[in-house]
Amino acid sequence: MGQSAEERRAALVELFKEVRACTKCPLHETRTNAVFGAGDADAGLMFVGEAPGAEEDRQGLPFVGRAGQLLNELLEGIGMTREDVFIANVLKSRPPGNRDPQPLEIEACRPYLFDQVRLIEPRVICTLGNFATKLLSGNPAGITKVRGVPQVHELGGHTVFLLPLFHPAAALRTPAVKETLRSDFELLPDLLEGPPPAGIALDDTLELAGDAEGQEAASSPHPAADQLDLFG
Ligand code: URA
Repeated sequence: MGQSAEERRAALVELFKEVRACTKCPLHETRTNAVFGAGDADAGLMFVGEAPGAEEDRQGLPFVGRAGQLLNELLEGIGMTREDVFIANVLKSRPPGNRDPQPLEIEACRPYLFDQVRLIEPRVICTLGNFATKLLSGNPAGITKVRGVPQVHELGGHTVFLLPLFHPAAALRTPAVKETLRSDFELLPDLLEGPPPAGIALDDTLELAGDAEGQEAASSPHPAADQLDLFG
């Protein structure tokens, strides 16, 4: 609480070193690089994806493939860049063949994500797709049911807005999903600049906006060795 940007960055670097050496699940045997996450250690906005893909594994950086290019484009659409935010994943190591994360892998990696949230203290966390949304909301509801409606949660010791969004990879496959994702991004400026999330007594969801029923609905060349410079 109340740490300076420099203190947050230093603490993240220590956590990064732990993740880089992690052998808690078998994915360490097949990964090229652990993908800790990257961005502003003092960010008000954090994105949480699913797991590194092939390009992320190769570079040691999150969202640097095609889905990452779309994420950059969506950020630009609301006047932001990836340097303004922090981007992480549920899993820090690539599942072979990009298969789904397994429960034991999620359990092994989850303390790292919660530590990242505790250290960064973002005001808003966008969960991208089902795995991040279910893990951070603690609710098994699928992304199609919950996307685009901000929730309030106690995470990493403080109160945050959690905004579930479709995963950009799904948006690459389906133009209608891309349009929904683009319009859900437009909720972000108000969440970032409006009143902060109110504290809640229960670790449950408080829907703040919208009607849940009605809402159904290029690679950067940094080598992994440069990761310590990534937390601005
Ligand atoms: N998809 C994810 O969920 N995370 C990445 O880092 C890249 C693609």
